[in-house]
Amino acid sequence: SSTPIKVAVTGAAGQIGYSLLFRIASGDLFGPHTPVELRLLEIAPALPALEGVVMELLDGAFPLLDSVQIGDNPEKVFDGVNAALLVGARPRGPGMERRDLLEANGAIFSAQGKALNNGAAEDLRVVVTGNPANTNALIALSNAPDIPASRFTALTRLDHNRALAQLAAKLHCPVRELNRMTIWGNHSASQYPDIFSARRGEQSISDLIDDQHWLEQEFIPTVANRGAAIIAARGSSSAASAASATIDHLRDWVLGTPNQDWVSMAVPSDGSYGVAEGIVSSFPCTAQDGEYRIVPDLELNDFSRARIDASVSELLEEREAVTQLGFLG
Ligand code: NAI
Repeated sequence: SSTPIKVAVTGAAGQIGYSLLFRIASGDLFGPHTPVELRLLEIAPALPALEGVVMELLDGAFPLLDSVQIGDNPEKVFDGVNAALLVGARPRGPGMERRDLLEANGAIFSAQGKALNNGAAEDLRVVVTGNPANTNALIALSNAPDIPASRFTALTRLDHNRALAQLAAKLHCPVRELNRMTIWGNHSASQYPDIFSARRGEQSISDLIDDQHWLEQEFIPTVANRGAAIIAARGSSSAASAASATIDHLRDWVLGTPNQDWVSMAVPSDGSYGVAEGIVSSFPCTAQDGEYRIVPDLELNDFSRARIDASVSELLEEREAVTQLGFLG
């Protein structure tokens, strides 16, 4: 059997963690032949609750789960890890401005970036789920100068999956018939879910639907505001779907994307599509042999261009704010 993969999960006692850990333990991340060692990070007050989660993980008697370690010290928990799912973050409290949020999370993600830099394995891959995810990833990578920036990514796969679900409902077809959906920009209300390259089989979805009013007034706002709709319905934020998307993101990065399709990942921009180099922005990506690549040469219409630019300018503002706060080194 193969060598176990060491996977760190932060915020492990939280809502997403409660779903994510069991999916990882059952083999959904790396397949049915790869054992995993879990390294779980929490803040000290949440460690007793995390111990309860660990009891349940052990009680799952998962054949692929080799060990579970917990702690509140990122340097210890991240030592030797091959993958880090950075889920834990400071939520926006009452009266907190965006700047306060960036400041609280800047402290968390700069410390975690440094700890990864000091002790993670050579092949480390990072997925940031905790919000503001794109900018948290930028902060972490800026504090990890010895790790290639490309190893730090942020989650827009949930938005991607939500967009696929909306298209499947509109077209009365299963999600598996759809391909080439793209989320561009920030994981925020400014994100741009782009259907202009998307297809059902080999048919263009924008030709099949051809309804700009639906696109602008229904589809895009439904995808962008889905998180709020789930809070309103469920009384708490999306957790199982966020965990599932986090699994999808890392699994496809490591094991590869299907032929003829791509996924959405927020990755450090190389300047593709005019997106400012260095910011962590969502792109269409393929992956093969453990490396992702931004899909080149897509044509963008004026509508798409304007939407992408708007989301990118929000990311530039976030970068400016965390630069001023001193988190980018
Ligand atoms: P939660 O509040 O249930 O759990 C977060 C956990 O993180 C808590 O247990 C907390 O103690 C822990 N934590 C806080 N600071 C930490 C630190 N410095 N180190 C380690 N752990 C720490 O929240 P939930 O629902 O699990 O969501 C987690 C994050 O994921 C939130 O930031 C949320 O906004 C974000 N999210 C992102 C999505 C995306 O698509 N990118 C989708 C859904 C949620």
